Amino acid sequence: MKNHKHLTRLAFATILATSTAYDILTPQNDTFASTFSFPPPQILSAGINDSLAHNIAVALNFERSNWATPTSVASDPFYTHLPANASSTLPPGSLLKLEPGTNTSLYTIPPSTALSRILYQTTTLNGTAIPASAYILFPYSPLPNNPVVGFAHGTSGGFPDCAPSHLRNLWYHYITPFTLALRGYTVVAPDYAGLGVSRDYNNDTIRHPYTANPAHADDLFYAVQAAQEAFPSLSREFVLVGHSQGGGAVWSAAQRQATRPVQGYLGGVVASPVADTYALAKGAGQAGAGTAMLIANALRDVFPGFEAGTFLSAEGVRRYELVEGIGGCQSVDLEAFADDGLVVDGWWDSWPARKFFDWTRNGGQALGGPMLVLQGTADATVPAELTDRAVNETCAAYPDSALEYVKYPGVDHVPTMYASQPRWLDWIGERFAGTPVTKGCGEAVKVESARPVEEYQPVPNFFLEFAMEGYEVA
Ligand SMILES: *[C@@H]1O[C@H](CO)[C@@H](O)[C@H](O)[C@H]1NC(C)=O
Ligand SMILES: *[C@@H]1O[C@H](CO)[C@@H](O)[C@H](O)[C@H]1NC(C)=O
Ligand SMILES: *[C@@H]1O[C@H](CO)[C@@H](O)[C@H](O)[C@H]1NC(C)=O
Ligand SMILES: *[C@@H]1O[C@H](CO)[C@@H](O)[C@H](O)[C@H]1NC(C)=O
Ligand SMILES: *[C@@H]1O[C@H](CO)[C@@H](O)[C@H](O)[C@H]1NC(C)=O
Ligand SMILES: *[C@@H]1O[C@H](CO)[C@@H](O)[C@H](O)[C@H]1NC(C)=O
Ligand SMILES: *[C@@H]1O[C@H](CO)[C@@H](O)[C@H](O)[C@H]1NC(C)=O
Repeated sequence: MKNHKHLTRLAFATILATSTAYDILTPQNDTFASTFSFPPPQILSAGINDSLAHNIAVALNFERSNWATPTSVASDPFYTHLPANASSTLPPGSLLKLEPGTNTSLYTIPPSTALSRILYQTTTLNGTAIPASAYILFPYSPLPNNPVVGFAHGTSGGFPDCAPSHLRNLWYHYITPFTLALRGYTVVAPDYAGLGVSRDYNNDTIRHPYTANPAHADDLFYAVQAAQEAFPSLSREFVLVGHSQGGGAVWSAAQRQATRPVQGYLGGVVASPVADTYALAKGAGQAGAGTAMLIANALRDVFPGFEAGTFLSAEGVRRYELVEGIGGCQSVDLEAFADDGLVVDGWWDSWPARKFFDWTRNGGQALGGPMLVLQGTADATVPAELTDRAVNETCAAYPDSALEYVKYPGVDHVPTMYASQPRWLDWIGERFAGTPVTKGCGEAVKVESARPVEEYQPVPNFFLEFAMEGYEVA
């Protein structure tokens, strides 16, 4: 695939996506079971040319070919049909539905892991009870006491079909959940509100509140609680781990823990986090169109009457409508939002943006437990300087926090999870073992690479492909 860079970056939306797209993409024939093509009127009304339409269609077919279920979540009864006793009056964290043993034949999870999906009650940023979905990935042979890790994924997109529980590789595959399950942890991973389940109790659309860190933190805590109800043998104690959008979620969860403690929480691993979305958006400028679109979509549910045109130009709004209409996710976003001229300059300073950013910000606040922060210094998506600042602000205001900060020279956004894998696996093990945490805040430790930095594979340049025939069977 020519544009492999665009199709494999699991990054925080498109913030620093380069605008070199629109060479024509070539579908990989053996994985592209989906056959979507745009009806010409849709191309016309979106105001895009045939080459961009082609590229968006290729990206969409790539995404659809990676669904683990035959249909969109919008017509999959697991996500659309709530049991009769589910209602908005159930407390958050309630288990609404359990699929105990998911048929994994169409997933590309590691052999000897097992999967379950649940629906559970969570709350929106403004406290409304809504249903949401999550997956649970089980090891064959759990570590003693069946320890649970809550996992918060990075950007997958803004629309219902971007739910990791309905993707063959669970979106973050070996980056985190597969690695954890193979190490003996049971992984509980919320899709986040609006991804997967897309209708609330009034049958209104639930829009994914992209980067609404406190809402994602609620999704995490409540998914863990519901999973523990579904599977009583799981440990009551748990650690949270998140990357990028999910790093923002876990940092926010640690802050929530300082004021609304949840029993059993042992600490959080925060990698390449979304801490200050304002600084991210402002720093990206015109190149942040994908992010502007995702946040605009979110704010339609947060501020009544909000219109996407506050953030997006007329052309940007047309692209947004196109992508929402086809249910595009990260690969589609990377194609559709790579141009300049799609955002309103200074959208990050508009009042809805400023209010939302203040509301959802991480850093400078108390932490309710130990936190490990991991950051690559060559992160092209979340600049290391922003993480430095959020750590500094936290440590200046709360010097007694137990915050360990580790930096990985020369490492980019998603690769940070790979570079730091030994550290976070050890850290999680120490929390479950009850190893005392050394207090101390913020002094960044730099890890030395074994080989010169430039010798390392810099980016993920592969995806897990579904095998149509047996292999490695003998
Ligand atoms: C994919 O391969 C099959 C047979 O191998 C062929 O019939 C089909 O035309 C190919 N499709 C594309 C889009 O190249
Ligand atoms: C089609 O549109 C894209 C994105 O707007 C642009 O980069 C490209 O140059 C256009 N291609 C043609 C052939 O006009
Ligand atoms: C809903 O009903 C099912 C039985 O149909 C029961 O197993 C479940 O516990 C009930 N859930 C709640 C939240 O009451
Ligand atoms: C799982 O799904 C496959 C189709 O993908 C089907 O052939 C198989 O019978 C299913 N297994 C069970 C146990 O339902
Ligand atoms: C919910 O709304 C959708 C979209 O308007 C509609 O297709 C569906 O029938 C509605 N479902 C119920 C139960 O009313
Ligand atoms: C709260 O959020 C829900 C959807 O998330 C929305 O329908 C409702 O209008 C919001 N309420 C207020 C008071 O903003
Ligand atoms: C964070 O604190 C360190 C140590 O005090 C300092 O060297 C660094 O410049 C600060 N970084 C930012 C972005 O504030």
